[in-house]
Amino acid sequence: MSTVPLPVLSIIGGTGDLGSGLARSWSRSGYSVVLGSRSIERAQEAVSLLTSQGFANISGATNRAAAANSDIVIVALPFSNYEPSLAEIKDAAKGKIVVSAVVPLVPPKVSVVQLPSAGSAALIAKSQLDPTSRVVGAFHNVGSQKLHDGDCDVLVFSDDADARSDVIKLATL
Ligand SMILES: NC(=O)c1ccc[n+]([C@@H]2O[C@H](COP(=O)([O-])OP(=O)(O)OC[C@H]3O[C@@H](n4cnc5c(N)ncnc54)[C@H](OP(=O)(O)O)[C@@H]3O)[C@@H](O)[C@H]2O)c1
Repeated sequence: MSTVPLPVLSIIGGTGDLGSGLARSWSRSGYSVVLGSRSIERAQEAVSLLTSQGFANISGATNRAAAANSDIVIVALPFSNYEPSLAEIKDAAKGKIVVSAVVPLVPPKVSVVQLPSAGSAALIAKSQLDPTSRVVGAFHNVGSQKLHDGDCDVLVFSDDADARSDVIKLATL
């Protein structure tokens, strides 16, 4: 019986708290993960750390290359530079599922979500990315510590039902 290969995942901002936590979970479940960074050196440092902790199939790249060399793109960046970062991966993410885990926190009120005029970070991605990209919002409610400590519910939303189902698989580990 043939098995369907797992999609390759990239994490834009994969050197951060949420991104590296997600990478650990997905690596443990057998996915190949590309950690994206603005700096190839920082990406490689993050890969070395995770590899030294026993996590397999993790590689590093610039954010754009990570998006280009993956099937599903997860965006785990601070809201502050979100739109320019989306512009950077726009071409590479054409036709792909793009998961936004971004929470719109605007300094100095970082303890309060300030909804953008577009409605949500996922809707900003939908408006900024190529129309062929299939945007899903997920993992916003998952504290990075939770990824180490145990189970939690994950909110996943999109108007693309197939993309939503594929991302629910990533949350069901
Ligand atoms: N941390 C959590 O527990 C958690 C939980 C749920 C949702 N979230 C949301 O997930 C997103 C990421 O959170 P995080 O805590 O992982 O963030 P973070 O650690 O502060 O940043 C993630 C990565 O983004 C890159 N980055 C930082 N500043 C940037 C900028 N100005 N422009 C472009 N890239 C920048 C950095 O990577 P390089 O320097 O390597 O490029 C950094 O490692 C946020 O929107 C946050 O609200 C976080």
